Amino acid sequence: MPTKILHKEKLIPGRTSKLVLDAPQIASTAKPGHFVILRVDEHGERFPLTIADTDPVNGTISIVYLVLGRSTQLLEELEEGQEILDVCGPLGRATVIEKFPAPKKVICVGGGTGVAAMHHIAKGHHNAGNYVIACIGARNKDLLLFHKELSLFCDEVLVSTDDGSFGQKGIVTDLVRARLDSEGENIAEVVGVGPVPMMQAVAELTRGYGVKTTVSLNSLMVDGLGMCGACRVTVGGEMKFTCVDGPEFDGHLVDFAELRSRLASFRAEEKIEAENHRCHCFEKKEG
Ligand code: NAD
Ligand code: FES
Repeated sequence: MPTKILHKEKLIPGRTSKLVLDAPQIASTAKPGHFVILRVDEHGERFPLTIADTDPVNGTISIVYLVLGRSTQLLEELEEGQEILDVCGPLGRATVIEKFPAPKKVICVGGGTGVAAMHHIAKGHHNAGNYVIACIGARNKDLLLFHKELSLFCDEVLVSTDDGSFGQKGIVTDLVRARLDSEGENIAEVVGVGPVPMMQAVAELTRGYGVKTTVSLNSLMVDGLGMCGACRVTVGGEMKFTCVDGPEFDGHLVDFAELRSRLASFRAEEKIEAENHRCHCFEKKEG
């Protein structure tokens, strides 16, 4: 249904924005892990975005997106007060949140834009009473997201940047490895959300420690209802649909090679579409 943008924040100008949407029905039922499917205009494709936060009292949800292809460029052109043609949700299965008694802890790992979706899952673990260690990684300090927001409720927030401009120099799995080594069996679960190579690296790392690992997959989607097959992934040798069976799966069972190849197969078409759509969102307004 048409959904009004109540607030827009350019988190990383020219790259990443956050929208607060007037969506009382979705806000009242959405749980961590759920996503929405958006269509910006009548010619636009349907694309999924994980819900970064909800405010059931005020009837709002927050979404965060990386301006990457034509659809997110169109979304970026909308301003506060304007409407998105269609926002459908909440979709998918909510995160399965187990309460782990002390001294057990949960590590929530977020890379780049994935930190926003991880934020909602981390909040769910915190609200369930779990000790939450957030590990967030970005290429540099200007690309770091939700550091302040996570600090409000996480028990610890550890940061890495590839260039060392903030936090520890290196990639986010360096932080996770160090905590797995120092905490031993106290880490009950690791949750990873971010670029596919990051989620794969998290799963490969934790496999060696025998720690339960959940990843949130960002497969291509069309209907979001389990009928078109666009989002299929192989998990534990079985075909699953990310939209209805996920988006979260056991990271140790996901066929990441297949997922990476499926995501890469449409990259050329996405680039052409994005180039054909002349985006005005970053141009200076005259006058
Ligand atoms: P990025 O490529 O800048 O990476 C961010 C951080 O992730 C890096 O600084 C590093 O710490 C870590 N990382 C990346 N590759 C790694 C590897 N091989 N091993 C260990 N750590 C690694 O991130 P970005 O450009 O913001 O990412 C955008 C991608 O994230 C897009 O492809 C988008 O689709 C995906 N994404 C996924 C979700 C999801 O739900 N899984 C949500 C939002 C965005
Ligand atoms: Fe069509 Fe999942 S998006 S089956």
